[in-house]
Amino acid sequence: MGAEITTMTDKLIKEKLTDLLKIYDKLGFEALPETVLTVPKSNPSEALLKAIRDDIGNCTRCKLHTGRKNIVFGEGDPGTRLMFVGEGPGADEDESGRPFVGRAGKVLESLINKMGFQREAVYIANIVKCRPPGNREPEEDEIAACRGFVERQIEVVAPDAIMTLGNVSTKTLLSTDKTIGQMRGEFHDYNGIKVMPTYHPSYFLRNPSKKIFTWNDAVKVLNYLGIEVISSK
Ligand code: URA
Repeated sequence: MGAEITTMTDKLIKEKLTDLLKIYDKLGFEALPETVLTVPKSNPSEALLKAIRDDIGNCTRCKLHTGRKNIVFGEGDPGTRLMFVGEGPGADEDESGRPFVGRAGKVLESLINKMGFQREAVYIANIVKCRPPGNREPEEDEIAACRGFVERQIEVVAPDAIMTLGNVSTKTLLSTDKTIGQMRGEFHDYNGIKVMPTYHPSYFLRNPSKKIFTWNDAVKVLNYLGIEVISSK
């Protein structure tokens, strides 16, 4: 019996609930706890994202956990059509537990606003969830330990388009060794989702005149989404 499974999201919920039922059964519960039963039907993606966050737990899967203050999971509207994927938290993000809230975050937010969105209306996540020391790039083993989580976030949010910010997120999601300079400006495919690589916002802190390249990339994304471009440059 049960409801008909019609969408990918329904399928994911069914799998997740089946897993949960097994866990609760093992723990000796006879019925599902109230919190599970009250997962809002109207917003299943929230529940699925929470399940991913719960899986991360108080993570010790890689060495980055030793220096972190907070895990930076990601945030935004799980029903959005547009997602941004960065590299990993910096000092401000580590402090607050939220992605892109420091200087680079201000640059990203102004791009998002210029594209006609409020920050809360898109979804923002990183490849690694803990701050690499001294803001170095995340290393291969750290990316390998963490990338599954952003991949699951993308699967749940299922945006129409993703903008990857900089080399690390572009190389990771698109499985390429090409640089951001070679990849940006054109759409690429990630599991059927259009991906537009663009420069990392921190690049513009050093090279503000290059912002036009990212704006051109953003316009292509807006055109693809069928959204009118309001800003002229
Ligand atoms: N840089 C990133 O790549 N991600 C953040 O969250 C902040 C800075």
